[in-house]
Amino acid sequence: MRTVYVNGEYLPETEAKISIFDRGFLMADGVYEVTSVLDGKLIDFEGHAKRLERSLTELDMKKPDAFDDLLDIHRELVRVNEIDEGLVYLQVTRGSDGDRDFVFPDPATTEPSLVMFTQQKPGLAESPAAKKGIRVVSIDDIRWGRRDIKTVQLLYPSMGKMMAKAAGADDAWMVEDGHVTEGTSNNAYIVKDGKIITRALSNDILHGITRAAVLRCAKEAQMEVVERNFTIAEAQEADEAFVTSASTFVMPVIEVDGATLGDGTPGPVAKRLREIYLEEGRKKAI
Ligand code: PDD
Repeated sequence: MRTVYVNGEYLPETEAKISIFDRGFLMADGVYEVTSVLDGKLIDFEGHAKRLERSLTELDMKKPDAFDDLLDIHRELVRVNEIDEGLVYLQVTRGSDGDRDFVFPDPATTEPSLVMFTQQKPGLAESPAAKKGIRVVSIDDIRWGRRDIKTVQLLYPSMGKMMAKAAGADDAWMVEDGHVTEGTSNNAYIVKDGKIITRALSNDILHGITRAAVLRCAKEAQMEVVERNFTIAEAQEADEAFVTSASTFVMPVIEVDGATLGDGTPGPVAKRLREIYLEEGRKKAI
């Protein structure tokens, strides 16, 4: 059984409890981070901690007391749960003052809730999906306007994955005003004539920690990166495509709305970036 962390305590997962009045549960009033683990070490921890701080600030949410101990708590959970390859999930919600009210509770008397748990994912790095590539379909992006904040409002992304599944695909790319915003739980890229094209950062997309690292790797490897909008039609004509996230690293995309990209196998740029990112990530892991 997993050991999880809830508000200062390490507990067996069946004993961990949160109030039914918690605003994360009632209002999706919470933010989260997912950090990957390779060789028992955390990948890009610093980036995730910084983004968490930013998400909290943007929502006027108090930092949990344990904020400065987050690295130690991550490491302890990885250690006790013997995670070699996997993920650490972290969630902060605005907590509960014991009732339901739209108005935020007084932060002087209501503590945020901090919950963390691990997920064992053997084969995260040597993923069979990454060797084959994934197929995506497009769906309308009907999410709210602050997608740069990593909130737990994940109903539409969940529905998007179900729509993809129903269409026989692996994931969905969301489209707004004719342009791809991002994947349901990842950032989206196409490659054309050697150029890596991805939407620029704004409130329209999550500022992926993996995105930042992968673009850095691409530039170091002298690959050209262009941050601009692109359409599904452009993606269907692209030489290759891929997505990035903490849980998939660099994942090649081989089909967009039924159109096969290249020869239908992962492209050289995506494969190379996955290798470089994993190598760099492992080197810098803590
Ligand atoms: N999702 N865009 C969205 C909408 C995401 O949910 C995610 C991450 C990303 C990639 O961000 P990063 O590289 O920092 O993981 C982009 C996580 C993995 C999840 O919800 O499980």
